[in-house]
Amino acid sequence: MDKKQTIAGKVALITGASSGIGKAVAFKLADEGCDVVLVARDENKLIQVEDQISSEHEDIRVLSISTDIRYGERVIEAVQRCLDEFGQLDILVNNAGIIRYDELESFSDDDFDDVMRTNVYGTFFMTKAALPHLRNTKGNLIFIGSFDANHPRSFNPVYCASKWWVKGFAHSVESIVGKDGVAVTLINPSEVRTAIADESGQAYIDRFEKGEVSEPEEVADAVLFAVKQSSTTTISQLDLYRRDKLSDFF
Ligand SMILES: NC(=O)c1ccc[n+]([C@@H]2O[C@H](COP(=O)([O-])OP(=O)(O)OC[C@H]3O[C@@H](n4cnc5c(N)ncnc54)[C@H](OP(=O)(O)O)[C@@H]3O)[C@@H](O)[C@H]2O)c1
Repeated sequence: MDKKQTIAGKVALITGASSGIGKAVAFKLADEGCDVVLVARDENKLIQVEDQISSEHEDIRVLSISTDIRYGERVIEAVQRCLDEFGQLDILVNNAGIIRYDELESFSDDDFDDVMRTNVYGTFFMTKAALPHLRNTKGNLIFIGSFDANHPRSFNPVYCASKWWVKGFAHSVESIVGKDGVAVTLINPSEVRTAIADESGQAYIDRFEKGEVSEPEEVADAVLFAVKQSSTTTISQLDLYRRDKLSDFF
């Protein structure tokens, strides 16, 4: 069997890298020696993450790109900037995503548009723009899905459906690019302590104590596990649930 890959020197682009899971993934990959491209809208938050990674790792190159993945042309520009600066792209982590709640009958068109534009269109635009470069490097394409990609959800059907789309897309893309040497992985977490909020507007990081649900670093560990596989192996899907998640579900 091949040795597990070292990923030092690889270039990773992470969407939603200013917060929560994406930020933890950026740190984890930088810890392993990857150069990291941080993508999100809030420039100040991105610069804080960039400064922190740079201060911990003098040898790692960090590029922040403040952009909005809901717009295809901005995504193309972001991927091009990564190529211009670093010359290659080895790992794309499609992580940026949002959630909105309301009764279905009153769910606003604007919220629907926002969720679909971010979780679906943004993921599509990024994947499309990155794929030729991932083919060149026989790289890794990671999607952050959700527990909700595996189950119907009565309290957030739009978000849930967006994640079912991510799941269908991820596995379909795997069926296209696997033969070109690109590894595609879908990671489905249940609750993770981040800024993402529940129906009452309370952020998960405030709602849950440490130890109650997953930490962002645990999802980052799952990303690391996927990208360190041998060049013949794809971790197609990882479901990362709080241990008693299914107890309250069935
Ligand atoms: N936390 C959980 O319990 C959980 C569970 C399952 C799945 N997930 C999934 O995990 C992913 C990360 O969520 P998180 O929990 O880490 O949430 P988070 O802390 O709110 O982070 C979301 C990230 O996405 C970025 N983002 C949002 N809209 C964007 C846009 N239009 N363009 C570019 N970046 C955008 C945000 O930055 P800006 O606002 O600055 O753009 C932020 O960096 C999401 O796909 C989420 O659905 C989370």
